Amino acid sequence: MVAVSNLTRTFVDDAGSFDVIRDASFEVDRGEMVSLVGVSGAGKTTLLQILGGLDKPTSGEVRINDQSLSAMSASQLAAFRNLRLGFVFQFHHLLPDFTALENVIIPGMIAGKSNQECIARGRELLDLLGLTRQGTHYPSELSGGERQRVALARSLFNGPALILADEPTGNLDKKNGQLLLELFQKANRELKQTFLVATHNAELIHGMHRTIYIEDGKIVSK
Ligand SMILES: Nc1ncnc2c1ncn2[C@@H]1O[C@H](COP(=O)(O)OP(=O)(O)OP(=O)(O)O)[C@@H](O)[C@H]1O
Ligand SMILES: [Mg+2]
Repeated sequence: MVAVSNLTRTFVDDAGSFDVIRDASFEVDRGEMVSLVGVSGAGKTTLLQILGGLDKPTSGEVRINDQSLSAMSASQLAAFRNLRLGFVFQFHHLLPDFTALENVIIPGMIAGKSNQECIARGRELLDLLGLTRQGTHYPSELSGGERQRVALARSLFNGPALILADEPTGNLDKKNGQLLLELFQKANRELKQTFLVATHNAELIHGMHRTIYIEDGKIVSK
């Protein structure tokens, strides 16, 4: 479902040019939970940004659901990101002036779904993630773990082909990290949700199906 072939990303600065991703190729199947592991600076975030259509590779190709990201126009890519991809970051990036429920339904509003449909789906996702009571809370009225679960609910909203997560437990304590992993696993079991998760968290790595290792921008085993 995800096919990355011969991906290279070169950054140029005053010191010269530097290959942050070097000839990376790998695949992720539908329904797989894959962790992306490597030391700080190895290129994990850069790779996820390219897979998410937020950055462009210098060369090589990313195909998701058999569609090439580089073949899409800017508006096609924006629609693809909204409908087919979900993002969970280290910091939740919830909008502070919107309630938990409103934050969750934003991807549906962007996709042009009706208010009624959005609210029903939003409530269902909040229930699924154990946040029934917190729908009316603003992000400042949620715990760190609850904010991350709202971010997960938002990422699941449009039934994405792939969820990309970058250090999703980086800001959570052990208990909330474990809970987030269990919810990833529940989404995988019940929705066959596919995940690619960059992380240093040993329990998260252990709870996934497979690990892709990255070292100095190269995929060293998969
Ligand atoms: N916009 C940029 N311009 C130049 N170099 C960059 C840019 N973005 C990232 N880099 C460099 O690319 C390398 C990989 O960075 P990246 O953020 O992908 O690492 P990472 O594996 O996510 O690390 P961490 O675990 O610390 O988050 C680093 O050496 C970084 O300095
Ligand atoms: Mg990173």
